[in-house]
Amino acid sequence: MNSADYPMHDAEALAEAPGRVNLLGEHTDYNDGFVLPVAIAQRTRVAMRPNGGQHFTLRAEELGQTVRFTLDAPPAEHFASYVYGCLVLARDEGADIPGLDISVSSQVPMGVGLSSSAALEVATLRCLRTLLRLQLDDVRIAQLAQRAEIDYAQVRCGIMDQMASSLAATDRALLIDTRSLERRDVPLPAGSAVLVLDSGVARTLAGSGYNQRRAECEEAARMLGRASLREVERLEEIGKLPDLLKRRARHVFTENARVLQAAGAGDAAAFGVLMNASHASLRDDYEVSTPELDVLVGLLQAHPGVHGARLTGAGFGGACVALCRAEAVQEVAQDVLPRYAAAGHSGRQLVPAP
Ligand code: GLA
Repeated sequence: MNSADYPMHDAEALAEAPGRVNLLGEHTDYNDGFVLPVAIAQRTRVAMRPNGGQHFTLRAEELGQTVRFTLDAPPAEHFASYVYGCLVLARDEGADIPGLDISVSSQVPMGVGLSSSAALEVATLRCLRTLLRLQLDDVRIAQLAQRAEIDYAQVRCGIMDQMASSLAATDRALLIDTRSLERRDVPLPAGSAVLVLDSGVARTLAGSGYNQRRAECEEAARMLGRASLREVERLEEIGKLPDLLKRRARHVFTENARVLQAAGAGDAAAFGVLMNASHASLRDDYEVSTPELDVLVGLLQAHPGVHGARLTGAGFGGACVALCRAEAVQEVAQDVLPRYAAAGHSGRQLVPAP
């Protein structure tokens, strides 16, 4: 990356981090389970230079906003709270942080489930690492980034997004065991490519049922006498739960099994079947889909160029991911988006970046 691509010309440190799309393993990370994300080409860039004072000036290029704050009080602007959280957590790790001018520029689409916030957090921490020569490895960066999101953006997220932004590549998926943080590369099935379409339905993570789903899973694990739903060994175990919690737990159990199966599958058709099953489970058992996502996923699944499709990210709106025949990706988008529009909705292509 050329420094000319960064918004601050005389920066002392530059860093970037990608967004991610999750192929399989949704709502499993905060249950200590398995996930299978891949990084996307769109990135967030952060540039920093010490300003000689004690304050911070944060410029967000795309938002056209500049925010000034100190580490004594969190800024009111939502985007700035992610950066503030990273600064405070790095200070708590022992870093001596001078006042900084910080500039942020991002191509990662916001609010659609592609982890624009994780990209901002990871890029900020990477930039601090470079500027202050901090001894932080990529896993520690992901852990601090997750902490910033939980403590300063009030979303009780798992660690998938930050691990993906910090460690995943764009040309292969990363299987992560979110309990041990062990991971291994999983090649995309031969001859396939990833397509991501936005349903056009806005989604606010904290305002949605995300934290509620997490609480339901914790309650289900507690009733089963398990530390987390990951610990459930057989599906019969969840039979004793009340209906709603049984459905939540069934999604988590079957989704973990699908991730492990897909990571060993190797072939695109089998992978696609697992993605379709994941969508049905997220819609019926986990109840995080929307009518629009169901229409868009249905159109994708019916297309001959598609092996499988599902909503991706937290749900409640946002994007869908499809595994397509590599040569058919553009054709799929060109066929499906007008049909989605004819059904009265407004979608757009996100990956590959149009
Ligand atoms: C959001 C969270 C992640 C994960 C997904 C759902 O992206 O940030 O930790 O829980 O939702 O799989």
